[in-house]
Amino acid sequence: MIELKQVSKIYQTGKVELHALHGINFKVSSGDFAVIRGPSGSGKSTLLNILGLLDEPTEGEVELFEKKISFKDFDALAVLRSRAISFVFQSFNLNPVLTLEENVMVPLMIRKDIEKTEKETRITEWIDKVGLSKHRNHLPDELSGGQRQRVAIARAMVTNPQLVIADEPTANLDSVTTKSILETMRELNREKGTAFVFATHDPVLEAFANRTVHLHDGRIES
Ligand SMILES: Nc1ncnc2c1ncn2[C@@H]1O[C@H](COP(=O)(O)OP(=O)(O)O)[C@@H](O)[C@H]1O
Ligand SMILES: [Mg+2]
Repeated sequence: MIELKQVSKIYQTGKVELHALHGINFKVSSGDFAVIRGPSGSGKSTLLNILGLLDEPTEGEVELFEKKISFKDFDALAVLRSRAISFVFQSFNLNPVLTLEENVMVPLMIRKDIEKTEKETRITEWIDKVGLSKHRNHLPDELSGGQRQRVAIARAMVTNPQLVIADEPTANLDSVTTKSILETMRELNREKGTAFVFATHDPVLEAFANRTVHLHDGRIES
């Protein structure tokens, strides 16, 4: 599905160069449920941003379905992202002036290929799956951290993405909610081959994964 070849990332802040990733080779296939572990600063978020086509590597290549990605072609990149990949950010990135339901609707608004009734069904289903049916008209400010995280998950899932990338997706969830959301994800993973790549410290999440990648100082250790 997506492959990183000899990917390095150097952040330049003034005169200081920081090597966040060194020569990473990493492949995500349909049906993967991969977890990336590593201490703070080891490059997990940087790696996820590149996998999600949100950031460009300094060196190396990214291929999506065996086609080399050009990070210069912003429009093409936006289309690829909106069709194939969903991202759950550590900070949720919800729109504060939209209700829960409207936030979940956002990624479907530009999708002319999906019928209106189908969109409504998916939105209702996912709000229900993350247990927020009673809060659909609430604004993000009126929700707890864990509830906002669940909105971000529902928003990521309504497009039926082929790849879901999430940075610490269960950090603010209680263990019951974590388990129920992960079970739904695993079902999708098995039935539709949806690939999941998560950065996490959560051992519960790791138990759901079929692959764990250990990052250390920007290198894959194992
Ligand atoms: N935008 C940025 N500018 C400069 N340095 C950055 C930036 N983002 C991350 N870094 C640095 O890159 C390294 C890897 O960071 P990150 O990918 O966020 O690691 P993790 O998610 O594992 O904590 C860290 O040393 C971090 O300080
Ligand atoms: Mg991080």
